[in-house]
Amino acid sequence: MDPVKPPIRPTPRLVEVGPRDGLQNEKNPVSVEAKVAFVDALSETGLKEIEAGAFVNPKSVPQMADSEIVFARIKRKPGVTYSALVPNEKGLDLALACKVDKVSVFTAASETFNQKNIKASIKESIERFRPVVLRTRQARLPIRGYVSTAFWCPFEGQVRPEKVVEVVKMLSGIGVTEFSIGDTIGKASPDEVRKLLFLLCKAVPKDSIFLHFHNTFGRAVANAIVAWKTFGITGFDSSAGGAGGCPYAPGASGNVSTEALVSAFKAAGSDPGVDEIKLKAAAAGIFKHLGRPVGARPAK
Ligand code: HMG
Ligand code: MG
Repeated sequence: MDPVKPPIRPTPRLVEVGPRDGLQNEKNPVSVEAKVAFVDALSETGLKEIEAGAFVNPKSVPQMADSEIVFARIKRKPGVTYSALVPNEKGLDLALACKVDKVSVFTAASETFNQKNIKASIKESIERFRPVVLRTRQARLPIRGYVSTAFWCPFEGQVRPEKVVEVVKMLSGIGVTEFSIGDTIGKASPDEVRKLLFLLCKAVPKDSIFLHFHNTFGRAVANAIVAWKTFGITGFDSSAGGAGGCPYAPGASGNVSTEALVSAFKAAGSDPGVDEIKLKAAAAGIFKHLGRPVGARPAK
């Protein structure tokens, strides 16, 4: 093997979560027009999947309260999947009425975070999702299941990989076929990622695994590259400009930026097919509305 030329590895598949995770924690309301322009700009970059909103209790996450209007106004680009977070059947009714292309339920690997986030134990959340998953599948739509706090919980500390595998199996048991494994507070290290993937890749097909790294400690890109190089994981979530954070996870900072992942994968010899200039423009467009430079965190 040529020691300089990198080996060919499977092409990464990026899920853009900026319009949802990126904006949900912003204190000041972002206008519908700005959100729609953001999604439309992202649609032109070559990204194949965009999480465009969340059908959750508007009192829990006020910033996502206008997701119905966002979905009604975006220009849907053929070949792009527009997905949304759905916590219960009420959310699913709204999501289906908006003609989402894909539904994402969300639970966690730690009880305290799950209670605070969706007011349910892990088991209760799975039961709540059962009819959501069934109806999503009946509608012939793909279904993703998030597992938050898969490495660290802001309330309980380190989370055992075995617990994450257990929750993934519970989701799989009710018919979820794609899993997004969340480092909600951005604290995972490459070794922790290896430990979890060593177990998880034995439990579910590796193509069904997506990794959702927040970047609080600056390790998200290293974590993604380890998962890709060592385990052949190709699914990664990211957010244009690196905005993001969960209102129920104190200390969480932004998602890994889509720009950083695209650049890192390209440098490692695999092109995720995203136009970096258009991506930068999309990030700049939304950060103008957030009132701070691209990549900057909100003032504390
Ligand atoms: P609850 O209070 O138990 O719900 O909340 P409820 O069924 O008792 O209803 C209370 C009120 O909410 C009622 O309205 C319902 O109609 C309404 P009221 O009678 O008071 O006027 N309601 C809804 N409205 C719109 N859409 C709905 C909906 N459901 C109820 N779907 C619930 C339980 C799960 C609904 C709530 O806790 C909730 O919405 N939580 C969402 C929290 C959230 O969105 N967190 C951020 C996303 S998760 C994340 O960021 C992590 C992730 O990025 C991965 C990672 O980083 O790890 C995905
Ligand atoms: Mg997140």
